[in-house]
Order: sequence, then structure tokens, then C-alpha cells
Amino acid sequence: MSLQPNRPPPELLLVNEAPAHAVEIEALLHRAFGPGRFAKVSERVREFADFAPELSFCAIEAGKVVGVVRMWRVAVGDQPVMFLGPLAVEESERRHGLGAQLVERACQASQDAGEAAVLLVGDLPYFQRTGFAIAPDVTLPGPVDARRVLARTVGDMALSGPVKAR
Ligand SMILES: CC(C)(COP(=O)(O)OP(=O)(O)OC[C@H]1O[C@@H](n2cnc3c(N)ncnc32)[C@H](O)[C@@H]1OP(=O)(O)O)[C@@H](O)C(=O)NCCC(=O)NCCS
Repeated sequence: MSLQPNRPPPELLLVNEAPAHAVEIEALLHRAFGPGRFAKVSERVREFADFAPELSFCAIEAGKVVGVVRMWRVAVGDQPVMFLGPLAVEESERRHGLGAQLVERACQASQDAGEAAVLLVGDLPYFQRTGFAIAPDVTLPGPVDARRVLARTVGDMALSGPVKAR
């Protein structure tokens, strides 16, 4: 065995999600969220949302998927918005900023594509670091703690109404 003490860490790449990543992403999501994942209200949204692989990203390190963020097209009332989630980072890779990097990349790609807002269901203490705030007037297709309904908008737009298909 050769020791390489000065070997640089493997390069981390953010790439668009492709069908070839699906099996590894599913395994990562299962490890991150467990079997209860499909009971979440976000899954009810994803049942009618339109998946946007060109705005969804994987983090690849040494050929393995170590992080994922998915984006979906929905509307709030008549306003088109992107719905973010799930977001997951492999446990061994956490606390190095990769989660924030994935969120930022997906939000920026959405904005570049002309999308005016990103919505998600998640913890404010985590997502406020990447510009999300409580969206008090948005309703979801199921019960949810209103403090977990968060949005990041371009400009001062206020989102209001039910989340529905575009
Ligand atoms: C949430 C998650 C994606 C963060 O990934 P990450 O690469 O560690 O994120 P970052 O490095 O950008 O941020 C890490 C920081 O966020 C904090 N953090 C993680 N989850 C948090 C949460 N739910 N609420 C508040 N803070 C949280 C960490 O404690 C850490 O704090 P520190 O910077 O003070 O050490 C990762 O922990 C994960 O996959 N968790 C399981 C799945 C999950 O909960 N996804 C989010 C669904 S809403």
C-alpha cells in the first residue's frame, strides 16, 4: 500500500441530475430521511409537480453521489414558482457547506431560467442562511407547521394562495 499524505482531496463536482444518478440518489435519500419520507406533505406536492432535472443538481465526489437537491415546477395561486426538495448530503460530507452550495446553485439556476421564487418546506434556522423566509400566506395540500413553509423570492414579491400544478 502506498501512503500519499499530500494527496489533494477528491474534487467535488456539481452536475445536473441525470437518469444514471437515480439509483444512487434513491439510496442517499433513503439513508438521509428513512422510510417515513413519503408521508411528508412535500411528497403530496411532488405528486402533481413537474420535475425539472435541468435545475436539479447532484454533488459527485470520486464518482459517487454525495449530495442532491431536486427542483419542481408548481404555482402558488397564479404565480409560477419552483419547489425545492428533497435536499440531502451524505452524513460523512456534512458541515462543510455542501448543503448550502446545492441550495444556492439550484436557486441561482432557477433565477437564471426566469423563475421568480423558490418555495420549500424545511427548517428556517437552516434555510434562512440561503435567503429563505417564512411565507405565511402559502397553503399546502396537507397539514404542515406554517413556520416551515419558506420562500426565497426575487425582489419583494409576496406569495399568496394554494400550491398547485402549473
Ligand atoms: C440538512 C443537510 C442537507 C445539511 O447539509 P450540510 O452539507 O451539512 O449543510 P451545510 O454544511 O450547508 O450546513 C451545516 C450547518 O447547518 C446545520 N444544520 C443542519 N441541519 C439543520 C437543521 N435542520 N436546522 C438547523 N441547522 C441545521 C448544521 O448543524 C451545521 O451547522 P454549523 O455550520 O453551525 O456547523 C444535511 O444535514 C442532511 O442531508 N440532513 C438530512 C436530510 C435533511 O434533513 N434535509 C433537509 C430537509 S428540509
